[in-house]
Amino acid sequence: ASMHTELEKLLGTTKGAQAELARKDFEGFKKIFHRFLQAKGPSVDWPKIHRPPEDSIQPYEKIKARGLLDSVAASLTKLVVVKLNGGLGTSMGCKGPKSLISVRNENTFLDLTVQQIEHLNKTFNVEVPLVLMNSFNTDEDTKKILQKYAHHRVKIHTFNQSRYPRINKESLLPVAKDMGLSGENAEAWYPPGHGDIYASFYNSGLLDQLIAEGKEYIFVSNIDNLGATVDLHILHHLMSQPNGKRCEFVMEVTDKTRADVKGGTLIEYDGKLRLLEIAQVPKAHVDEFKSVTKFKIFNTNNLWISLPAIKRLQEKNCMDMEIIVNPKTLNGGLNIIQLETAVGAAIKSFDNALGINVPRSRFLPVKTTSDLLLVMSNLYTLDAGSLTMSKKREFPTTPHVKLGSSFTKVHDFLMRFESIPDMLELDHLTVSGDVTFGKQVSLKGTVIIIANHGDRIDIPAGAMLENKIVSGNLRI
Ligand code: UTP
Repeated sequence: ASMHTELEKLLGTTKGAQAELARKDFEGFKKIFHRFLQAKGPSVDWPKIHRPPEDSIQPYEKIKARGLLDSVAASLTKLVVVKLNGGLGTSMGCKGPKSLISVRNENTFLDLTVQQIEHLNKTFNVEVPLVLMNSFNTDEDTKKILQKYAHHRVKIHTFNQSRYPRINKESLLPVAKDMGLSGENAEAWYPPGHGDIYASFYNSGLLDQLIAEGKEYIFVSNIDNLGATVDLHILHHLMSQPNGKRCEFVMEVTDKTRADVKGGTLIEYDGKLRLLEIAQVPKAHVDEFKSVTKFKIFNTNNLWISLPAIKRLQEKNCMDMEIIVNPKTLNGGLNIIQLETAVGAAIKSFDNALGINVPRSRFLPVKTTSDLLLVMSNLYTLDAGSLTMSKKREFPTTPHVKLGSSFTKVHDFLMRFESIPDMLELDHLTVSGDVTFGKQVSLKGTVIIIANHGDRIDIPAGAMLENKIVSGNLRI
């Protein structure tokens, strides 16, 4: 009740269209907040978790083997590509939307996405549109940039996800003083996770518009996943299901390695496919969850979802997603929680949901500058906005790269490399401390470079480091 009063007070500080939008957002917020208060104990009962049945996660190769029909273009006319664009580049030390960070030859994540879809549209003579789900954090900057693509063969739509109030951990009341976004309210609001896509897509009216245009599926992915290109075999598989057995939801999963033990995995629960996230796992079972043998695959967040199904589930209020409680400490020192949902968690609400185990190449996320180093290097070649592993690399696996904290911000990272080293034969790179790289350095095998506190190591131009440890005052 006191939450309700506080929200009404906040709404009272704004007028007109802005107030209307805020009211819609608050409706969603009240629902999730209410569910949060009702929730008792963990959302899963561990003994009820089963490995998914054989045929509910299909190998990609099997789907690919069925081949493509001439009807590819017809299928593409029913497809919409959606990129989750609510996030900022903060963790890589950048201001503004993450999608506007340059990742390869001056191209941003967004540039590469546009190039990919434009290429697809030209190749098949179709008009697959791109939809960006922005947040209040990214909308303005993204829209400014979109003019740049006015003459590209891609129609771009945007809609905004909701804006929810952060809540004080102790009082469970909003931190916000009014509806403003700056000054004392700068940290008072948050975008409630990508699970918000269903409600905000529906509320925006764009979902209905696209259905009216004859669109049937969206392909949703993280904008920072450079491997998330439109896959024609998966699309064809979806389109060729018999009526009545239409698969409404495909989650692309991929084999876990030791490096991705934290990703969500698919399980069978109450006879349905369900996404299990580490946050839902009781403490006593976390190691079991992380094991590569019991839970072999994880969610890439590349999802294919039926538009009419989203509409149906939204209208029946049947979209069921677990709440992720995300605790944070604001810059001012205040402890807050924010309630979020994940897009993949809705899988259990859809009919005939399916996992497809795709090659690792469809999961190429850029979360850190270590990831950035890989995608900028000669390990990959860029073609029509898509990155593929260079044929010159003998092993299909990517090297393990760990750059230290002096490299965290993109700006510092770029300053430390005069050019990106040759990494074709690299297996493992660890760099720590004040280290710089001259032009045309070549790294092979396992290379470890550690500059101790107060020291600096400059790798000279043209150096070739193969299975080497460089540390302290040692020079090569
Ligand atoms: P994250 O940046 O949170 O990446 O969001 P992650 O750590 O891999 O998170 P999960 O495991 O997928 O949740 C992934 C994508 O979702 C978008 C980001 O912009 C990014 O493309 N996103 C995230 C939103 O659009 N809205 C949100 O509220 C959160």
